Amino acid sequence: MNEIKKRPVILDGDPGHDDAIGWVLASTIPEFEIKAITTVAGNQTLEKVTYNARRIAALLHLDIKVAKGRNRPLCSDLIIAPNFHGETGLDGPILPEPDHDLSELSAPEMMAEVLRESKDKVTIISTGPLTNTAALLLSHPELKDRIEMISIMGGGLRNGNWTSAAEFNILVDPEAAYTVYHSGVPLLMCGLDVTEKALVYPKDWERIRALHNPVAEVVAGWFDFFFIHLNSLGWSGATTHDPCAVMSLVHPEIFDIKDYYVDIELQGRYCRGATIADYNGRTGNTPNCRCVVGLDREKFVDYLVEACSKFEGWEV
Ligand code: RIB
Ligand code: CA
Repeated sequence: MNEIKKRPVILDGDPGHDDAIGWVLASTIPEFEIKAITTVAGNQTLEKVTYNARRIAALLHLDIKVAKGRNRPLCSDLIIAPNFHGETGLDGPILPEPDHDLSELSAPEMMAEVLRESKDKVTIISTGPLTNTAALLLSHPELKDRIEMISIMGGGLRNGNWTSAAEFNILVDPEAAYTVYHSGVPLLMCGLDVTEKALVYPKDWERIRALHNPVAEVVAGWFDFFFIHLNSLGWSGATTHDPCAVMSLVHPEIFDIKDYYVDIELQGRYCRGATIADYNGRTGNTPNCRCVVGLDREKFVDYLVEACSKFEGWEV
């Protein structure tokens, strides 16, 4: 059988239910070689999301250390989202305790170590505020060319979700986003344009629960909790944001992707954190971002269910 070419990957996020589901998906992708998990304050405090990340790594039997990043954005105060993710940041299913020590390296230094040591360029999948990736780029500009691309869950070309202008991940740290979007590193952006169409309905995650394996049970439980607040806001399904940043890397055929120049609003009194696209090239800027703006929802769900089926007989 042909050897699968491995793709080194760093998972950077603020788990968070949808980060966690995205990481389950990532752990089942044969070509992904997960080199590190790095955490950033966002959905909850740094301590809480780091503890969650270490428990997810234990659940998924990932033989890697988790490195924690900054406990606050580059230039602004931290915003957290307990309304969506609960007091722990990952309320709901019981998870195993961490089975690896926390890395002594900071997240940016762990990222830098992975970039230095990898013989192939590395893909960073960022599903939280971009603080760590910005810190990496600011501290180690010499390593920029070792990054294959940054797949981002963040932004929204036509709306926000934390304000009407700004999506949460970008709003938490707009200066970090500005640093990343102006870095010249290839970007794949899954903003709300696609993630609010990536709706997973209760009937969908009942398919996952019906798989009756330990990880599928946990994923269904994460959807149960994540949907509570979303449903109270009027959503009929779970806006499954972060898994889009994983799946669009390996199944681009089910997504609608456009190349735009995207910039980050830093100054607006009401629009700070907005991601502004130049749809018609009027700025004269070259597109800096592959923007994912649509998907085949049914296929998205099928791939999520297929990923969760990979844990038959899993020891937790
Ligand atoms: O706006 C959605 C994003 O903010 C997701 O990454 C979710 O986990 C939160 O971090
Ligand atoms: Ca997230």
